Amino acid sequence: MAVSAGRAERKNAMKDLLGLESLSAEQIGYILDVARPMKNLFTRSIKKVPALRGRTVALLFFEPSTRTRSSFELAAKRLSADTLSFTASTSSVTKGESLLDTAKTYEAMKVDFLVMRHAASGAPELVASAVKAHVINAGDGSHEHPTQGLLDIFTILEKKRKIEGLKVVILGDILHSRVARSNLWGLTKLGAHVTVCGPSTLIPAGLTDVFGPRVTVSTDLEEALDGADVINVLRLQRERQQGDYFPTLREYTELFGLTTDRLRQAKPDCLVLHPGPMNRGLEISSEVADGPRSQILDQVTNGIAVRMAVLHLFAGPEGLPATVPDGKQTAKAVQTTFKALS
Ligand code: CP
Repeated sequence: MAVSAGRAERKNAMKDLLGLESLSAEQIGYILDVARPMKNLFTRSIKKVPALRGRTVALLFFEPSTRTRSSFELAAKRLSADTLSFTASTSSVTKGESLLDTAKTYEAMKVDFLVMRHAASGAPELVASAVKAHVINAGDGSHEHPTQGLLDIFTILEKKRKIEGLKVVILGDILHSRVARSNLWGLTKLGAHVTVCGPSTLIPAGLTDVFGPRVTVSTDLEEALDGADVINVLRLQRERQQGDYFPTLREYTELFGLTTDRLRQAKPDCLVLHPGPMNRGLEISSEVADGPRSQILDQVTNGIAVRMAVLHLFAGPEGLPATVPDGKQTAKAVQTTFKALS
């Protein structure tokens, strides 16, 4: 179970966000409800509210990132928190400082949040068990990327108004993808049917044993796309692939690249998502990436709102409660507070 007990006074509340595996469907819905009023702030000329004034968010990135790091930073700043930015390659990690010593050093600076990305699956959980600050997983190895899963679901919900009953295809390098795992947990908990599709070498064994009967595995893209409401295309993670998973990149694209032609197999209003960064011309054609069904830039915008909601909820006196109050009521209260601040 990827939930650390945290501060005694928080009792059943969750101190850290380590993955969607440990969240209930209600908790996921609660975060997404609170993300909506956060997104409404984006239309204002002044997009900042003092909700987290006096709090500090440290961004500990041991792996490269463009959108996750920047959107967490922007989310913290829009809530008036201070931010501290850490990059492993220019830090004392290069002198041999350990992960835990690095985390405890930031804790000694009295930060409230450690937003953490690391190449090792489980690294945020290890840190969470050693510090009092809230640890938010910004991607660990091939384990989870919970805020990416949340923003993907938020984006689908915005357009489709529901998750239950949708057919969502997750296409590509499932084996190495933390995005796939967070999507699988979140989407199946909310009642979607998920088809994972890719070369058999890039699909881990036993997915249905882990994620249950709502998950189907296919190695035939045309079959997988039939009747799809959403396609989430994954990046081919060549930096994590040790060994040969398919004969050539050209063959991968021929069999599993998403093109306009292939998209015709899906429903006419099928949404196309990609977490980024994209390998254009490899797993997705530019025509699809820039086409009318693409949600890719909306995902980036929604990432800020979802990360604001996560920081806001986890900073609250109770953390993220195990039994959530009415999310819509909370969202309304947030909206009213923010309105009063405008
Ligand atoms: N989707 C995602 O995690 O992108 P970055 O690696 O740019 O943060």
